[in-house]
Amino acid sequence: MLLMGIRHVRTSQQNCLRSYRNLSSLPTHFTLPSGDKIPSVALGVWQAKRNEVGNAVTVALQAGYRHIDGAWIYRNEAEVGKAVQRSGLPREQVWLTSKLWNSFHAPEDVEPALDETLTKLDTEYLDLYLIHWPLARKDGQPYDKELTENSYPTWQKLEEMVAKGKIRNIGVSNFNVRRLENLFTNPLKIRPAVNQVEINYWFPQPDLLKWAKEHDLLLQAYSPLGGTGKVKDTLTVPEIKEIGEELGMTPAQVVTSWHIQRGTNVLPKSVTPSRIIENFQVRALPDELFNKLETAATTHKPYKRFNPSKGWGLDFDIFE
Ligand SMILES: NC(=O)c1ccc[n+]([C@@H]2O[C@H](COP(=O)([O-])OP(=O)(O)OC[C@H]3O[C@@H](n4cnc5c(N)ncnc54)[C@H](OP(=O)(O)O)[C@@H]3O)[C@@H](O)[C@H]2O)c1
Repeated sequence: MLLMGIRHVRTSQQNCLRSYRNLSSLPTHFTLPSGDKIPSVALGVWQAKRNEVGNAVTVALQAGYRHIDGAWIYRNEAEVGKAVQRSGLPREQVWLTSKLWNSFHAPEDVEPALDETLTKLDTEYLDLYLIHWPLARKDGQPYDKELTENSYPTWQKLEEMVAKGKIRNIGVSNFNVRRLENLFTNPLKIRPAVNQVEINYWFPQPDLLKWAKEHDLLLQAYSPLGGTGKVKDTLTVPEIKEIGEELGMTPAQVVTSWHIQRGTNVLPKSVTPSRIIENFQVRALPDELFNKLETAATTHKPYKRFNPSKGWGLDFDIFE
């Protein structure tokens, strides 16, 4: 009883590990407006190459992952589908997400693109389908300004696909608040369940996260470790390393845990078996350590790694 009010108690067994109050476990799932439960951790498969991605999915499913974050444009859906089939897991136990590419936003293109994904993944339905980017542009053509500014015609088609049973949940990706609010002005039958965006230590997006929570919209954190090229920097942030040492966790585990504790889905990508297993082992951080990391992440100048606007030759910033 005497110890109840003491926050840090050193134990002889744990040596320099501390024991903390306020430890609770992290949610294994988030509940979407449909009532479906989406697993908190997904294996991301962008840049997971052919002849690599299948093994990554197999290792992940064996390690306990039940959520794969893919996309048509990753060009590896067939191999992902085969690995899911090979696992022998019932379809309803594995959450499959895919994304509608920019060239298929015209309403008449949505269903054929979705069907191609379903065929490649060898499944009758997707658990979640996202508009990958708020950009409507057919290959080799200038972008469609009207459909880029107003995704509602695309969205209506997605709603139709839900009614047909080809998708369970729909959402968006890379949408800012302005674009979300634009979409919300339409008479939506189904509101977006998620917005998948870059969120990591360097770009933690606290304002968007607050807004999303107020609007019952789950954020999915992509490039959660900082993305290829920045992962090393993330994993050597002093606060992240210190927290890991204190709790007996690796820096990557501190980061994946932090994302879930903030209330976001986390989608780390790896094709390395040991890392796939490592990233899945999440644990709640004690309040003071969670707050320490949250403060460190939200008080430096935000650094956004990923913005394809220039590379795509756009005359506007896709995030504005
Ligand atoms: N909606 C979108 O527009 C969008 C954009 C970007 C990403 N995403 C999604 O988010 C997922 C993750 O994003 P991301 O791939 O950009 O970034 P990330 O998951 O933050 O970083 C991936 C990189 O980290 C390495 N890595 C993973 N775990 C590690 C660990 N424990 N220790 C050291 N290195 C580790 C991986 O290497 P190895 O693979 O070699 O192990 C890979 O180079 C993607 O796969 C995709 O599903 C979506």
